[in-house]
Amino acid sequence: MKYRMVRTGSAVLLLAALVLVVAAPSHAQDGAALYKAKCVGCHSDDGSGSGPTGKQLGVKDLRSDEVQKQTDAQLSDSITNGMGKKMPAYKGKLTDGQIRGLVAYIRDLAKKK
Ligand code: HEC
Repeated sequence: MKYRMVRTGSAVLLLAALVLVVAAPSHAQDGAALYKAKCVGCHSDDGSGSGPTGKQLGVKDLRSDEVQKQTDAQLSDSITNGMGKKMPAYKGKLTDGQIRGLVAYIRDLAKKK
């Protein structure tokens, strides 16, 4: 009985470790790839929004303090539900996990600045 519990426990641990190892890097890649596919047109490669469309729409630099000081939940909310008239809502188009990956990528952009 005791032996079985230990065995189940270590199987769960092993599974958790595996999920962490597999999930962490693929998330980051997802974020970068999704950003390039869906967001660059308005927000630019580097997140600055300095391209013609970004300038026209008046997007903020995603790397700025104004954006970075927001919590992950606030950024996810802007992506999920859209913002103002021009930022599209991605609800139903992207999964929660994909949106988390994008938020992580927006944090990365600020570090690269
Ligand atoms: C059609 C152009 C367009 C596309 C495509 C677009 N955005 Fe935006 N985004 C905007 C605009 C415009 C704003 C600013 C809205 C405002 O301030 O009223 C914005 C705002 C944001 C904000 C909030 C920033 C702030 O000022 O608080 C985030 C986060 C964001 N976008 C992320 C993304 C991500 C991630 C994608 C790709 C999945 C994306 N956007 C695609 C136009 C776009």
